[in-house]
Order: sequence, then C-alpha cells, then structure tokens
Amino acid sequence: MRIESRCNNRMKVVNHVEQVRHALSLTNGTIGLVPTMGALHSGHRSLVERARAECDIVVVSVFVNPTQFNDPKDLEKYPRTPEKDIELLKEAGADIVFMPEVEDIYPEEDNRIFDFGSIAEVMEGAARPGHFNGVGQVVSRLFEIVSPHKAYFGEKDYQQLAIIRKLVTDYGFDIEIVGCPIIRESDGLALSSRNMLLNEKQRIAAPKIYATLCQAAEFGRSKSIDEVCQFVVDTINSDPELDVEYFTMADSSTLKEIVQWEKDQQVRGFVVVRAGSVRLIDNIEFD
Ligand code: PAJ
Repeated sequence: MRIESRCNNRMKVVNHVEQVRHALSLTNGTIGLVPTMGALHSGHRSLVERARAECDIVVVSVFVNPTQFNDPKDLEKYPRTPEKDIELLKEAGADIVFMPEVEDIYPEEDNRIFDFGSIAEVMEGAARPGHFNGVGQVVSRLFEIVSPHKAYFGEKDYQQLAIIRKLVTDYGFDIEIVGCPIIRESDGLALSSRNMLLNEKQRIAAPKIYATLCQAAEFGRSKSIDEVCQFVVDTINSDPELDVEYFTMADSSTLKEIVQWEKDQQVRGFVVVRAGSVRLIDNIEFD
C-alpha cells in the first residue's frame, strides 16, 4: 500500500523531519530512498525509476549537504533548481520528496567522525579532505530519518558507493544498497549536476574524458598500467580545456591502486578532470 495513488501529481513535498516521519507512518510496504543534492538530471532519474520499480514507497531527498564540501566556493556555486527537480521527480514517480534546510538535518553541529578505513583515504578521499566524512554524516542521518529497506546510489561516484556499503555494514544499518550504472549524454559525457557550469568550449571538450577511458579499456592488458595511465593523462591533457587532476587504476573492491595486472583481479580506472574550475568525475571497468 502506498500513501496515495500512483497518480504522479499526488507526490508530497516536505521540508521537515517530522513531516517525513508522518507521511511514512501512513504507509506500509518497502521503502526505497534516493539521496540527492538536486539539480536533477537523467542520472538521478534512473535511480528514482529503479527504486520505483523495486519498492512500494519512493522517497527522494534533495539537500545540498554543506558538511561534504571542503571548498566553500564549490558549495556556493553548486547549482540549485528546486522547481525543475520537483517536476522531474513527479514524472519519475517519486512519492515523497524531502527538501530540508540545514537546521532540519543538523539541529546541532555534527561532530561525528566516521572510520571508513583505507577506501576513504585514496582518490576523492585524498583530494577532498573531510568529504566522505560529510557524506557519512548526511547519509546516516537520512537513513535514520527514513529507515529505508533499500537505498540507491550511482556508480558514477563509485568510491562513494563503496563508502556507503561500508557505512551500512560497519555502522549497523539493515539497508540494502543498490548500485546503479552511469547514465551518459549521447556523446559519452557522464551526466552530472556540475555539467551545467561548463562553458561552451569546455562542454565541447568534455566528451574526450569518456572517449579516452574507452580507448584505454580497449587496450586492456596489452599495455602496462604505467602505459595506460600515461596514455589517459596525455590524451585528455592534449585538449587545452581539460586538465587531469588524477587518473588511478585500482582494484574494484579495495580501491587500492594497482601497479601491475594481477590475474582474475577486477580493475577500474578512476579519473577526475578539471575544466576551468569545474571538477568532472568518471570511471570505467577494465576487463
Ligand atoms: P548527487 O551528486 O546529487 O548524486 C546523487 C546520486 O545520483 C548519487 O548516488 C550519484 O552517484 C548518482 N548519480 C549522479 N550522476 C549520475 C549518473 N550520471 N549516472 C548514474 N547515477 C548518477 O552524490 C551525491 O549527490 C551526494 O554525495 C549524496 C549521496 C546525496 C550525499 O549528500
């Protein structure tokens, strides 16, 4: 049983924790949660649709979480499009949209420090100190408020997905984490809320990131890890609009950097590229 009929225009938009709890108390069935920071696009939509297909009640949170931004300028310029978000979520079939203010999520300062171990120390963890701790703070809070049976996260933020899986096992949440594939523009650029911050030249250049990852994945194990890394960095950097912050080949489970191919090891390539001040993130599986 759902709160209201599946009729899309019956979607509830709420701002406060008690309102979410109240709305959920009127329902029964499985609850699916899709946490987002808004400025929604088809990548987010795919998560909502997956939750819609698998759960009775779909809750989507839209909250730009200040504690996961290590750069105040990045927080300030993060795109916010609440009205468009509501329209997209109606179409995608959400039941409850939770759009809190900072005080709703953090009535008091959150001083919790999470220990996610070595997976939080590499790549985004190293590049953005405190970022994953902030993600842990907000996601654990959302889990407590919504008590979902399932929660949906994209593989675009592959390391974040690994962190959330660790959060659930190490901090005792009985929630199934569902990882969802990366949704891309037709030219290959991974959809991201940050794409709307790209200027025209940067937007034209950006598809080179995924095109290069695909070429690298095609080399497969015919080249050394060093050669693959050099190829990716040089090819992307050959475009004046793009600047590789890091490219790392890592074990898909431990996220430990690899320096040589091991038999039967699943490997992914992880990249962050700067286009002006915009950080673009992507990853690809290697066979
Ligand atoms: P946000 O960047 O809004 O992303 C919300 C969810 O959408 C994440 O799980 C992300 O991986 C997924 N997503 C974004 N772009 C995608 C794409 N192109 N294809 C598939 N999935 C995509 O990630 C966050 O917000 C925050 O860190 C959050 C988890 C909400 C905590 O604040």
